[in-house]
This record gives sequence, C-alpha cells and structure tokens, in this order.
Amino acid sequence: MPMIAEGLVTSVDAEGRINLAPMGPIVFGDFESLLLRPFQPSATFSNLSQTRHGVFHVVDQVDVIVRIVLGTLTTLPEMEPAHVVPGHVLKDCCRWFEFQVESVDATEARSQMAARIVHRGERRPFFGFNRARHALLEAAIIATRTHLMEWPDISSAFQFLEPAVKKTGGQTELDLFQLLYNFVQKRKNPDV
Ligand SMILES: Cc1cc2nc3c(=O)[nH]c(=O)nc-3n(C[C@H](O)[C@H](O)[C@H](O)COP(=O)(O)O)c2cc1C
Repeated sequence: MPMIAEGLVTSVDAEGRINLAPMGPIVFGDFESLLLRPFQPSATFSNLSQTRHGVFHVVDQVDVIVRIVLGTLTTLPEMEPAHVVPGHVLKDCCRWFEFQVESVDATEARSQMAARIVHRGERRPFFGFNRARHALLEAAIIATRTHLMEWPDISSAFQFLEPAVKKTGGQTELDLFQLLYNFVQKRKNPDV
C-alpha cells in the first residue's frame, strides 16, 4: 500500500519565481514516483501545471511548515539550485526528491499529478520520531482546514494534541503550538 509523506514542495512559475508549500504526496515504492494532489487554486497547482517540475523535501523540523500555514514566513529559507530539474532545494532538509510531472488530472478541485523522481539527495539524517512535531503537523493541517471544521472539533483536537507537545517538545514546539492555537481561535472566533 502506498503511503503519504508530509513535507515541503518547491515549485517555480513560468518566470522562475519560487513557491514553497507543505504538501503530502502519495509515495510509491522507495520514492520512485509520487502522486501529488494540490488543490485548485493554489500556487503549487498552477506552477506544477505550467512548468511540470518541482522538488519534494523530507524534513524533520516543523517550524517552516507551521510558519507557512500561519502566513508568517516572511523570507524563504536558504536554497540551492536543484541538480537535474531547473528548481530549488532547501539547504535544511533530510532528503530531497527532484521530480518531473508526467500527467495532470484537473477534473476535480483536488488535482492529481503523477510525477517521476529524476534525482534524489540526502543532506542529514532524520532526527527521529517526535510526538510534539507530529502533533504540530496535525495542528497545522487543522489550521488549513478551519473552513471545513466546527470550533468544538478544532478545540477538542488541540486539547488532545497539547499533552504530546508539552511532554515531548522543546520551547520552539511549545511556541509554535500556541501560535497555531491563537490562529485557529481567531479564524473561528474573530472577536476573541
Ligand atoms: C502537512 C501539510 C500537508 C498538506 N498537503 C496538502 C496537499 O497534499 N495538497 C494540497 O492541496 N494542500 C495541502 N496542504 C495545504 C497547503 O499547504 C495549503 O493549501 C497551501 O496554502 C497551498 O499553498 P500554495 O498556494 O503556496 O501552493 C497541506 C498542508 C500541510 C500543513
């Protein structure tokens, strides 16, 4: 059964402007190919449809993912040119996978893009599973879905996730969790 890997995708538009977005492609084999499913409209969807290449990154830190979701990532993290595709590789990642989009199915709002890995690289070993970071991933995904969820469900999800963050995270994880909580609270109760 193929699985989903949550990570970061860099893509470029026709003018070469870089976009960085959290994405969870379905991974086939040992990263031989991916099925990316960017929603329409999104910068990732339009960039990958136009230029047909990008880079998927496996990361073990969640701060960039969370800051993108919060809209507070003011400058892009450092990057280097990709090796095979005319794209960009994050300097801080565990592994990266340069891909070529081979087909685009845009009939549904959530598009389907089959992509072949054309080059891969490794920068540093994976830190290891950390419950606080996994909890932050879940909280970040909820923060992108506030329009689909009612406040009681969001609030109870955050209550469930909080102990893992408190028990197993560092100060960065605690701070990011609080920022995400403030973000979802404001989205659902603008008067708070
Ligand atoms: C961990 C994580 C995984 C995500 N995976 C996807 C995905 O597979 N497809 C998608 O359309 N959005 C996904 N999102 C939400 C997008 O990152 C979000 O919609 C973003 O605004 C799209 O950015 P863009 O317009 O820069 O492409 C994910 C978010 C998170 C936090």
